[in-house]
Amino acid sequence: MRHLIDITDFTVDEITAVLDLADKMIANPADYRDALKGRILATLFFEPSTRTRLSFESAMLSLGGSVLGFSSADSSSTAKGESLTDTIRTVGCYSDIIAMRHPKEGAPMAGSFKSTVPIINAGDGGHNHPTQTLTDLMTIRREKGRLDKMVVGLCGDLKFGRTVHSLIGAMSRYEGVSFVLISPPELKVPAYITRELNDKGIPFTEVETMEEVMPQLDVLYMTRVQKERFFNEADYIRLKDTYILDPEKLRTAKADLSIMHPLPRVNEISVKVDDDPRAVYFTQVRNGRFVRMALIKTLLEDMA
Ligand code: CP
Repeated sequence: MRHLIDITDFTVDEITAVLDLADKMIANPADYRDALKGRILATLFFEPSTRTRLSFESAMLSLGGSVLGFSSADSSSTAKGESLTDTIRTVGCYSDIIAMRHPKEGAPMAGSFKSTVPIINAGDGGHNHPTQTLTDLMTIRREKGRLDKMVVGLCGDLKFGRTVHSLIGAMSRYEGVSFVLISPPELKVPAYITRELNDKGIPFTEVETMEEVMPQLDVLYMTRVQKERFFNEADYIRLKDTYILDPEKLRTAKADLSIMHPLPRVNEISVKVDDDPRAVYFTQVRNGRFVRMALIKTLLEDMA
């Protein structure tokens, strides 16, 4: 039995296989209509979500399976003091696979130790979000035709943005990828990530404005400032609108730039950018359903 806690739990070849299967599913969804008939996915969301929870549920339903779960800790026995391990052991009696989101870093890994079914990390605090990364990799590969040889700009809250941490971990494994990290000093990527990039000899630069690097970028990955992770509201208010991408800032960008965002968006991309053919954030949303279909099927069948 395999879990997906960190994107590097899967080899590059295993990720390629999931992305290939997702491409087949997007091309011929009817072929997979009954693929997981009789199987049950549990979605345990201790933190709010729109895309991740609903795309997991849509994915399982599209494969002929069923879903159960909860969308907040308050509506589960966690509110009565039940431990995470007991919750996971219980839900494992009712389901074949669990997708779980939790505000505490490491909670899905802790849950996996006693789990009798595969656990998928659907986001743990400000740490990791590996299934968003599968969505992002699928989108980059479909847009660019490759995952290597490119300059990836990541902009916004690189400190608390879990999608950023997982995407750097994943893209670091492809030849010729370099990173441009765009953030205010207070929201730089954690030191463990830059240390790893240095250890592996992967090129990266850290800058404070997107204008100075825009012409270099093949991908611009915008992120929201993560209000829920701040200890001090005044700091959030000061930093929240540091970056607002608009058509003027894109004037010097490449014609084939891919503008990405894991969503939800607050203010960091003007709606005026939405009609730019380079904006692919709603394509990411669509791909998320198919890549999660491929992931669930892979964990329940190919890796079981
Ligand atoms: N991208 C993402 O994780 O969105 P949700 O928080 O809506 O699931």
